[in-house]
Amino acid sequence: MTGSEGSTSLSAREAARLLRQRLEMGGGELFLDGMTRDEVLQQAARALTDQESDGGGGFDRNEVSAPGGLGSAAVAPEAARVTKGVSEEAAVAPSLLPDDYEALREMAMACTRCGLSSGRTRVVFSDGPSAARLMVVGEAPGANEDASGVPFVGMAGQFLDLLLATVALSRQDSVYIANVLKCRPPGNRDPQPDEIAACSPFLLKQIDLVKPRALLAVGSFSARLLTGREGVALGKLRGTVHTYHGVPLVVTYHPAALLRNRRWIRLFWEDLQLLRSVIDDS
Ligand code: URA
Repeated sequence: MTGSEGSTSLSAREAARLLRQRLEMGGGELFLDGMTRDEVLQQAARALTDQESDGGGGFDRNEVSAPGGLGSAAVAPEAARVTKGVSEEAAVAPSLLPDDYEALREMAMACTRCGLSSGRTRVVFSDGPSAARLMVVGEAPGANEDASGVPFVGMAGQFLDLLLATVALSRQDSVYIANVLKCRPPGNRDPQPDEIAACSPFLLKQIDLVKPRALLAVGSFSARLLTGREGVALGKLRGTVHTYHGVPLVVTYHPAALLRNRRWIRLFWEDLQLLRSVIDDS
């Protein structure tokens, strides 16, 4: 977890443990959308008290409400289909980029390949250890990331950290995070095709060099890039294990979308279970 734990006495790791325990013991649903980080942590602290007082009843943890009929794949990782990403041949060959990680990073830090370079404060290359088992791929930096140079440090990123902690993953030791775009699009608009074409070779080279055991694409831009399924809705891509250059790839919703649509929080959590099983099997 990046940043301080603030004034709350509950750590994010502890909060994540309580949330996971609550789900496993059949506690009621928690709706976290629209909350500040401290409120999320306080809600998690309250979950323990609720769990003790409500006897843990009233919630079937096997119940799946997965729009689009993808729930069975999402809750039964062992039954998930394994598909080969059609992007594997079509992916931009990052052949002109250096094979040395530090050299690649330095090249990205000085990049002026697209118009986003003129408006950026910082290039946002990555966070987490480059020997990580899991690589998470997001969309593009927002205002907080542009200011700090670190991906996923805003509200969505803190929520992502909390959810990753529920499956014992953290950017402190096991998760490397990068984005499709390394510079912030103005006003947080969607990445444009020319920007993706200019910037994504850096990401693809990062994947080649980091060699993660698994990939998690959050949001439709990274999901489409890594699966090669242009124009396919995210809901149709999730719930199954794809591969990118031989690396197992799970795709799911962007954490910022979860903060807007609380029904996706559970689907995201199910995708994390699928991811965890992929990592454990690798
Ligand atoms: N959203 C992303 O996709 N990436 C970030 O780094 C921050 C927010």
